[in-house]
Formats: sequence, C-alpha cells, structure tokens
Amino acid sequence: MTSIPIVRLENVGKQYGKVVSLRNVSLEIGSNEIVGLIGDNGAGKSTLIKVLTGVEPPTTGTLYIRGKKIDAASYSVKEAHNLRIETVYQDSSLGEKQPLWRNFFVGRPITNWIGLIDVKAEKRIAEHIMRTTIGFRGAGIDVDTPVSRLSGGERQGVAIGRAMHFESDLIVLDEPTVALALKEVQRVLDFIRSIKAGGRSCIYIEHNIHHVHEVCDRLVVLDRGEVALDVPAASLSYNELADFLMSLHAPRTASAN
Ligand SMILES: Nc1ncnc2c1ncn2[C@@H]1O[C@H](COP(=O)(O)OP(=O)(O)OP(=O)(O)O)[C@@H](O)[C@H]1O
Ligand SMILES: [Mg+2]
Repeated sequence: MTSIPIVRLENVGKQYGKVVSLRNVSLEIGSNEIVGLIGDNGAGKSTLIKVLTGVEPPTTGTLYIRGKKIDAASYSVKEAHNLRIETVYQDSSLGEKQPLWRNFFVGRPITNWIGLIDVKAEKRIAEHIMRTTIGFRGAGIDVDTPVSRLSGGERQGVAIGRAMHFESDLIVLDEPTVALALKEVQRVLDFIRSIKAGGRSCIYIEHNIHHVHEVCDRLVVLDRGEVALDVPAASLSYNELADFLMSLHAPRTASAN
C-alpha cells in the first residue's frame, strides 16, 4: 500500500498496574479497508480500540493518524472525532424514546442562524442517510420512528449511519452483533459492506470468525496483548483461521532457551 495509513500504531503498550493489556503492538489501518480484530476474551481488543480512539493513553509507543504523530497527553475522544475516527459501541447509547432523526444529531446538532436546532434540515438529512447510506427500507420505519421500535440490527445501522454522516473515515465497531438474531447479524454485515462501498475503513471486532472472515479485507489476531497474525483475509481459508486460533490455545511447550 502506498497511501498513508489512516492510523498507525508503533510499538504500543498498555499496562494497568501489573496487568499488561497490550505489548509492542505495531499495526496499520489503511484507507478503504475492513480490518477484523480477533482474539480471546481479555486479548486486548477493546484496550487497543481505547488507545486508538482517545479513551485511554498508551503506556508506551506512538500513535500516528494520517502520518501525523499524536501527542498522547492531548489526545481525546473529541480529538479522534475531529480526526474523523468514530466508534460504535454495542450499546450505542441511542435515546430510546427519541425519534430516529434526533439520534443522528445528538451532541452535534444542526443549528440555524439564531442557534436553534434546525429540525427540518436534521429530518431531511436523516432521511437521506437512511435511504442512501445505510439503505433503510424497513416497512413502517421513517425518521419519526422512536428508537425503541427498532430492532437491534437497525439500531446498529443508525449508529453506523451517524458515524458515516459525520464523515468519519475510520469507523470502529466493537462487537456490534452480540445478542442479535441471525437475520439482524446479516443486516450488520451489510452495513459493514456499505462502509467499504462508501470508501471508508472499519475495524470490526467480532468473536464469530465466520462473520469476520466473510466481510473483512484483513485479519488481525491479538493474543495476550500481542499481534499474533496480520494477514489479508483472502490468504487463508476459514478452516485455516480456525486452526490458527485453536493453536493459540494449545498448551505452550517450554521455550527453547
Ligand atoms: N481498566 C482496566 N483495569 C485493569 N485491567 C484492565 C482494564 N481494562 C482492561 N484490563 C485488562 O486488560 C486485558 C485486556 O482486556 P480487553 O478488555 O482489552 O480485552 P478484549 O480482547 O476486549 O476482551 P473481550 O473479548 O472479553 O471483550 C484483560 O486482562 C483485562 O482484564
Ligand atoms: Mg472487548
């Protein structure tokens, strides 16, 4: 890849007291690629995302965004947003009782010249995002539908659509399909494909490796805080990936030295 990666981590380490969550992680996320981040519970996936999105500073190492070295002391979630990096959490903190259109603009409203929320503009844009960006065609769903009537998959769609509207070019999804029915999972996979089709990048954290293998361009496996594998998804079959992950669980033989 010749273009400058959106994000580059160089030897990043993160320690909580005596717990080492990340060790020497070097990783790049290029433009317009979907990267699957896989690993056991406690492997460090969420920690990696927290460092990358300004939630927590790394203990060691350096973060670069579009080639620019980031000052860990001043990096924050807000700064990550400014740099067009968005995270969609499992519980995407949507307002249950609020209509869908309002949820697109929470925290970042469109205001008119006297500083009031421009409801018409927000509705028009929400409608546009629903139809074009995330392809919402659900029967009976429109911008006025309250979030409480949306399915889990549709909620993820709203959160992803919101991230896309704010021009983020890296969208991080931390286990977006947990607790979703199969059909809903397919919907979320379609949203991920729309991120790719829209020319953006995505980090997709997922325990179901079928899904990751199906939708990702590249696979990164974390094992006890370290990168154990970083390969194009097409370079190994689903079975090879499963075997590799199994091999990480195998008891380690005493090291050779
Ligand atoms: N705030 C914290 N304080 C202390 N230890 C932490 C903290 N956050 C994470 N850890 C530890 O860091 C390690 C990595 O945790 P992390 O949440 O990144 O794993 P994960 O790969 O996201 O796991 P899961 O798949 O269960 O979400 C774990 O051992 C965890 O206990
Ligand atoms: Mg996690």
